[in-house]
Amino acid sequence: MKERILITGYNGELGSKALKELVSIGKSIIALDINNPKEKIHSVKYIKDSITNNELINSIFNDYHITEVYHFAALLSQTASQNPKLAFEINEKASKNLIDCSYTFGIKNNCKTRFFFPSSIAVYGPRKIENASEQDIIKPTTIYGNNKLIIEQYGSKLHEESLFKKIGLDFRSIRFPGVISYDTVPSGGTTDYAPQMINCAKKGEKFECKLSPNTKLPFIGIDKTISSIIDIMNLEIIESKLRVFNVQEASFSVEQLSDFLVGKFPSFKIKFNEDKNFQSVADTWPSSLNCEKAKKFWNFSSNISLEEFLNSIINK
Ligand code: SER
Repeated sequence: MKERILITGYNGELGSKALKELVSIGKSIIALDINNPKEKIHSVKYIKDSITNNELINSIFNDYHITEVYHFAALLSQTASQNPKLAFEINEKASKNLIDCSYTFGIKNNCKTRFFFPSSIAVYGPRKIENASEQDIIKPTTIYGNNKLIIEQYGSKLHEESLFKKIGLDFRSIRFPGVISYDTVPSGGTTDYAPQMINCAKKGEKFECKLSPNTKLPFIGIDKTISSIIDIMNLEIIESKLRVFNVQEASFSVEQLSDFLVGKFPSFKIKFNEDKNFQSVADTWPSSLNCEKAKKFWNFSSNISLEEFLNSIINK
């Protein structure tokens, strides 16, 4: 049977970059998304359908030997709060089905299906903490945070069961902070204010910010996001019961970012208009993350200053 890698949500911010990176290292890919591809890569098999179509997912695993799964299809935090039912269907139910298929077909194929799940700082809460480590208090207050935590735990449980069988599932996950790209402007998330603000500053447009100036959150650039995913998935084995790891490159407040941008683009104007749907979420997420475990397991490094980090995004 033909070996393939399955990517879901390949049109999204992370999915599109991960797809290109995996193609460039010679992987054969099946890419699933509810929308058509924005640009087609010749060697990729594209499927336009929903991740909630269990029959389709099952048939993909039946027809191909899926060795790795990169599961990016999801609703982000604000969109999930507005559509809790859909968030449950996509973020939880469909994710569980995909994990179940990966586990079951891993057993059938007498191997372990390697599974990547992008988790989030949204699993933390209910209070804002600094330097949050993986085992800190995780009592999320949002629908999205709960969806992510349930899948972290579900994947970790099936990973553990696979340890005894030596076949099944090899679950790996990263808790991402806000991701900042230089060429796409995301929406639907709470941390998206940062890429949106940067984009407005660059274009000379005024920005209306829904978070208060002193709100501090952790962030990572898209390049480091993708290299972290590739690195964690390329490890032969992760000798750890903990399957979910923190990463960050910088941590800053809304005001620090706006000051930096005004310094670069002196005519840039920001209006603060706090929105409690955004503020109440950001107030439960950590202001910074402890990344010692990622350093230990795959040499994750993030030794750049805030200025270097922001310049690397703005100057791309
Ligand atoms: N960036 C995401 C959001 O704000 C968090 O994972 O929803």
